[in-house]
Amino acid sequence: MLNKEITKLLNEQINKELFSAYLYLDMANYYADQGLNGFENWFYIQTQEERDHAMLFRQYILNNGESVVLSEVAAPNEKYNDYKAPLVKALEHEQFVTDSINKIYEAAYKISDFRTMQFLDWFIKEQGEEEKNADDNIKKYDLFAGDPKGLYMLDNEMKARVYAAPSLVLD
Ligand code: FEO
Repeated sequence: MLNKEITKLLNEQINKELFSAYLYLDMANYYADQGLNGFENWFYIQTQEERDHAMLFRQYILNNGESVVLSEVAAPNEKYNDYKAPLVKALEHEQFVTDSINKIYEAAYKISDFRTMQFLDWFIKEQGEEEKNADDNIKKYDLFAGDPKGLYMLDNEMKARVYAAPSLVLD
């Protein structure tokens, strides 16, 4: 069993992870429209990872005898004026998700819910990687995408990203 407030926060996190998947799918669609299929690939894989994150929260709730409560996933509703804008938005969004996970961790810490803290440890580390990846994308864009040839090369690099299932497995 889990504390009521922790269960609520974990359920809300499912929604945030699914929204993240939606947001990144929208970015993948934007880049597809622009003909940048490498950037599209990168964000499509990001979408798959976010879905995985949502499913991990779902499984954790179920494994602890609590009910999963799904709520409406908002439309991303973003307009991008240039190729860099989604990259900046992605970093801001990951910082928001980090903050959200930190808040659940803090709530678990306050009531000595060590099991939830241990579960969240994986996400704490993952968020460090998510923020770094998003920041790296901005830096690479600024360094290399200043001319069409550089953008083409960067797009090809983004094309090489492959999906990997999360290292955290919950049965
Ligand atoms: Fe599920 Fe990108 O954090």
